[in-house]
Amino acid sequence: MSSPTTSAPTSASATTPARLGSVIGGRPVEQSGAAPMASTNPADTADVVASVMLASPADFVAACRAARAAQASWAEVPAPIRGQVIANVGRLVAANADRLAALITREIGKPLAEARGEVQEIVDTCDFFLGEGRRLYGQTVPSEMPDKQLFTFRTPVGVAAVITAGNFPVAVPSWYLVPALLCGNAVVWKPAEYAAASGSALFELFAHAGVPAGVLNLVLADGAATFGGLEQALAAGVVDKVGFTGSTAVGVRIGELCGRHLQSPCLELGGKNPMVVTEDADLDLAVTGALFSGFGTAGQRCTSLGTVLVHESVHDEFLRRFDAATAAARIGTPTEDVLYGPLLDEKFAAAYETYLGWIGDHHRVLGSTGVGRIAADNPRAGFVGDPSRGLYYHPVILDGVQPDDAVFTTETFGPLVGVTGYRGLDEAIELANAPGYGLSSSIYTTDPSKVFAFRRGISAGMVSVNNSTSGAEAHLPFGGNGRSGNGSRQSGQWVLDQFTRWQAMNWDYSGTLQKAQLDTMAIEADLGFRLG
Ligand code: UN1
Repeated sequence: MSSPTTSAPTSASATTPARLGSVIGGRPVEQSGAAPMASTNPADTADVVASVMLASPADFVAACRAARAAQASWAEVPAPIRGQVIANVGRLVAANADRLAALITREIGKPLAEARGEVQEIVDTCDFFLGEGRRLYGQTVPSEMPDKQLFTFRTPVGVAAVITAGNFPVAVPSWYLVPALLCGNAVVWKPAEYAAASGSALFELFAHAGVPAGVLNLVLADGAATFGGLEQALAAGVVDKVGFTGSTAVGVRIGELCGRHLQSPCLELGGKNPMVVTEDADLDLAVTGALFSGFGTAGQRCTSLGTVLVHESVHDEFLRRFDAATAAARIGTPTEDVLYGPLLDEKFAAAYETYLGWIGDHHRVLGSTGVGRIAADNPRAGFVGDPSRGLYYHPVILDGVQPDDAVFTTETFGPLVGVTGYRGLDEAIELANAPGYGLSSSIYTTDPSKVFAFRRGISAGMVSVNNSTSGAEAHLPFGGNGRSGNGSRQSGQWVLDQFTRWQAMNWDYSGTLQKAQLDTMAIEADLGFRLG
């Protein structure tokens, strides 16, 4: 692409925030007339990071048409050369890592150390897929006929529409964008509108890395316009694959819509990720894992810990240590060294307050000096910074959660971890599977037989042993089952099946019509033979 088309802000300033909009076919989209949306800093809600011009459903369709027009010539670029473009993306992301991480922290409030990790996850993804450009293997397969050869090829799907969440505003999108582009597809990307500046920055890096105009298009839109646009684009036949990371409720709607067009979307949805702590576990290790996965990113990862299932013989001791560690954790300004900062955005803070309303009399609340929004009249001991500036919430450990509690059955995106006891491993596995999600899971134990029993019994797509539910590496299959997704997998070689289709070719060079199954050679055998 010839020139950058957006200008993402990277630091707080008193100047007018950058105006960001969609980019279709390499051209910025004009403002539709609707008032722009402000993307604000959740750690300092007075800081407007960007003014976002939201696109219409018609813009979404136009982006898909632009992608359709650009896709064939991109697919003609040899895969190793497309791999070089992906290598360039990785280099540019690495060279801009500090600015990108600072922008992520400013826009969604993720602590800077985690934001740096998120940026590294893009580089890791590019490192993996630049090599895939030189593989993208098909097979040569023997035929049942002489003078005939069979082959398989991976062919690009066509136009991929990718809709992503803002908790990982650039890493998770890269899990779609990088393999989709490497495989020869064109992409329409709709990042979370409350993370539009981070999304626009990543888009610019792709453009400067050499992704041609139209091959990657950016649509900044709200959920309703996106759904409407997707509906029209599918009906018009200009979308061939949908990738969606977000809530289970929206994933269900996208799955239904795609099903009507005989398409199978790549869905990465919510989780209620369990951690089992057995009677023989290293409790301090389990507490460290629970703290990181329960409260890191303020509990707003799809891999965040939902419920700890702890053997009754160690329940009280685990809870005592987990409570102490949580109470001592530094929470506050995300540019400081903190466990977590603010919630992502007002919408998420409001939803989290609803979940807090599910706390019942039979629960014991631990982990902090209060519950709810941290404020002068609801202080958190040791808070780092001024809580009144942002969307800061107390961490909540909820002991005594029960299988019919809403906090047990439903993802509560935010810093809330349930705890309950169990007697036998079978019961723990049953409780772990009960909410019906199936993204990530974890077991802390020193007994190998429990590890494998858990692996067999758990419905999750990802299983950690003596490690937390978060922190997946960028080249293992990532994805879930049940309410967490439709079985699709991202990352590593596995995501290739999302962005390519297998094409089978047979080539008969015998010069005659050799009919499979009918004209095949038979070799006589004496199948009545028995040893004497
Ligand atoms: C997500 O929450 O959508 O495993 C992705 C992890 C990160 C990715 C999480 N590497 O926690």
